[in-house]
Amino acid sequence: MRKPLIAGNWKMNTTLEEAKSLVRSIINELDGTDSVETVLCPPFISLAAVKELLRGTSIELGAQNMYLEDKGAYTGEISPVMLTDLCDYVIIGHSERRQHFFETDEVVNKKVKKAVASGPKPIVCVGESLEDNEAGKTEQVITNQVKAGLAGISPISELVIAYEPIWAIGTGRAATGKQANATISLIRDIIANIWNRQTAETVRILYGGSVTGNNIAEFIAELNIDGALVGGASLKSSEFVSIVKQTANLKSIR
Ligand code: PGA
Repeated sequence: MRKPLIAGNWKMNTTLEEAKSLVRSIINELDGTDSVETVLCPPFISLAAVKELLRGTSIELGAQNMYLEDKGAYTGEISPVMLTDLCDYVIIGHSERRQHFFETDEVVNKKVKKAVASGPKPIVCVGESLEDNEAGKTEQVITNQVKAGLAGISPISELVIAYEPIWAIGTGRAATGKQANATISLIRDIIANIWNRQTAETVRILYGGSVTGNNIAEFIAELNIDGALVGGASLKSSEFVSIVKQTANLKSIR
């Protein structure tokens, strides 16, 4: 049985004070939903303050990125070692990092290796562009990204994968539950082929891309979808809390 996971990716939003106030209202509204693992991923500069506020709650903390070396002359970067004490999770290979910061599958793979060895647990993102989707290349693109991103990784049971079609991110045009489930099943099959079926059944795979309180039920109803990586809707506490609570309710009946 895979425990559902809902992670909020705040991206480059919230000042320190805004982050603290958002966390306070999420804690107030959410208390005691332990059947869903809930993770907040604020900007780096707010991690320490948010961690303080989360103390004593079951809500966990995640970073949005990290560098692939432990320390050294890498001005402006944040190392996995710095994050280990602070965070439970780190998002790696988000499509915005691939697109705006030129992260290749090779870089993603190095970061995932680092995170598995000495950093927080990785949430590894994969997803196809609209162009690839319309050209019928989703399967090929996702297979390549998963194989390249996870090459040589061991163990993988604590690793989380997020399937985030680029055309669905921030567009209000979410995939359907069936579409997302089909690609997520494909990802599980790829993992089963590389490792084995038993391992594949333990890895949690999330959907991400325009998830809201209105459509979360459609994704959670699908057997292969273990939760969501939520962007825009995670910046509104009532919306995010609704996503977590619906997940908790639906999970108990599926
Ligand atoms: P969105 O972002 O929910 O705003 O579409 C999801 C993500 O990029 O993780």
